[in-house]
Amino acid sequence: MPRVSRLRRQLRPGGRLAASWVKTAVLVTAFCLTALYLFARHFGASESVRLERHMNSGPLLHPLKPVKSSVDWGAVQCHYPPRQEPKGVPRPPRGAALPRIQARFGKEPAKVRKKREDRRKSVLRLARRSWDSYRIYAWKKDALQPLSRAGKDQFSGWAATLVDSLDTLWIMGLRDEFDEAVAAVAEIDFGSCTSHRVNIFETNIRYLGGLLSAYDLSGRKVLLQKAVELGDLIYSGFDTANRMPVDNIDFAAAKAGSGLVVEDTVVSASPGTLTLEMTRLSQLTGDPKYYDAIAPIVELFYRGQNQTALPGLFPMFVSMLREDVTTGGTFTLGGGADSLYEYFPKMHALLSGADPKLETLTRGFMDAAKQHLFFRPMVPDNDDILISGNVNVDADGAPRLDPETEHLTCFIGGTFALAGRLLRSEEDVEVGARLTRGCVYAYQAFATGIMPERLNMVACERGAGAEPCRWDEDKWVAEREKRPEYKPHLPKGFTTAKDPRYILRPEAIESVFYMYRITGDSRWQDVAWNMFRAVAKGTATELGSAALLDVTVSKWPPPLDDYMESFWIAETLKYFYLVFSPPDLISLDEYVLNTEAHPFRRPAA
Ligand SMILES: *[C@@H]1O[C@H](CO)[C@@H](O)[C@H](O)[C@H]1NC(C)=O
Repeated sequence: MPRVSRLRRQLRPGGRLAASWVKTAVLVTAFCLTALYLFARHFGASESVRLERHMNSGPLLHPLKPVKSSVDWGAVQCHYPPRQEPKGVPRPPRGAALPRIQARFGKEPAKVRKKREDRRKSVLRLARRSWDSYRIYAWKKDALQPLSRAGKDQFSGWAATLVDSLDTLWIMGLRDEFDEAVAAVAEIDFGSCTSHRVNIFETNIRYLGGLLSAYDLSGRKVLLQKAVELGDLIYSGFDTANRMPVDNIDFAAAKAGSGLVVEDTVVSASPGTLTLEMTRLSQLTGDPKYYDAIAPIVELFYRGQNQTALPGLFPMFVSMLREDVTTGGTFTLGGGADSLYEYFPKMHALLSGADPKLETLTRGFMDAAKQHLFFRPMVPDNDDILISGNVNVDADGAPRLDPETEHLTCFIGGTFALAGRLLRSEEDVEVGARLTRGCVYAYQAFATGIMPERLNMVACERGAGAEPCRWDEDKWVAEREKRPEYKPHLPKGFTTAKDPRYILRPEAIESVFYMYRITGDSRWQDVAWNMFRAVAKGTATELGSAALLDVTVSKWPPPLDDYMESFWIAETLKYFYLVFSPPDLISLDEYVLNTEAHPFRRPAA
């Protein structure tokens, strides 16, 4: 300010000399600024500047108007209205703050910063390439087929990759790309669908999660308006006799408002993974109905927690029709169950601890998992790692561990570390580290540097507290002979790679990201870099990245599958990018990430 007034004074009539001096100064300054700008642009140094500008910029001056969906799901008649008075999101007791989650990071030396920034730029380049390929060849389709250069719809045809990528574009500072995508979102019609059934789980985590987080980050109104349209569609999935949600919404029946029928059996993750998104929608709109819809689900799991064959854990299949979450003998943290458990501590964080049931559910499942599901695998160099397996409880009540795991299960290391901080249990942060190292081990063991989708190892001993075990080659040979799926090219310690694919999944880098942010140990960044190089190289195509049919091969390159899942940009590349970003970008003390890596702002922060 003082500088401006001095300039004005000099420009007063009569001060000709001063005026011409000022003119020269202005010209020189303008020239220098232009040169600096061009230089910065050319050498990419503007990236972090751009990033900061984007993270700080508010809503647009001329907000986009959404094109209203052809069905107003909020106005469809409800056949089974809620029986209870609206309650809404509970508020935490005054002054009750949750513990800090992230490590305290010190000042970064210039050399370290340079290395980290170089890595971050490598991730950014790959993300740009993937997005550009989607934009050119599969615009507004659900997913890109990178080999046939086409698009494919498999999630209702509402541009799943586009909606799923919004917040990644924002976080990476790709503002033009973000603006273009938001304009496309404004035109999505949630009143028409490419299939006659809408899967409530996928719609919730990818679409609703994507819209909510993009709104939380950018403040663009149109994103919240579209989130409400979609939230109302999901809400219509609760129009059932017992107010429990269906797994798939029959589109025609929902439109008619004639009420839906809950399936008898569903995987537990399906009803268990609606909580975070519906809660955030209530928080952002002030409308209690979304939270009120999911509160009975939490209540049901809470009541059943100690009544199952493995108290603390839930069977993989549950019945929302019979409101039975306790009968059944198959237990896993993998596919079908995973995000049910993931959302207990994350809901605890989003509600700032306001519902003590979530802390109990978290504590209960962690203790049971440590006792029953985790095992130390027998590996040639006797590494101190943990793997999460599957348990079947027989009719006689005896739990039987199958040392089988899958890529999906790799989220659990990160969830343990996060919950460990939230519940003030450093011991569980350490268990999280050992679980994460288990997945990192499985990546490094294969010649491609990538872990297969599903595999078996040999359990040394059950339980997180198991003693160290010694490599015993004869035992490995004996175990692998029991497995018809064993193949001679598998690395030592593995007895199957039942599903040898890698479909661009994020869970391993997700846990590495959590470990880095929570412990501050930079060795996790080096682990992440090795993973990134293997994955980026193995999945590369002329356009974007493609899933791999077999990562156990020793011949390079591994065979490609013609498919780029929407979670590649939404999750995998986002976690890689965040591991190599300053730790206050999407701090875990300000955001909680849904199971599709969409950050929601934590109200207490
Ligand atoms: C289940 O058992 C645990 C451990 O004994 C206990 O802390 C928790 O409150 C129980 N849950 C319910 C719903 O009673």
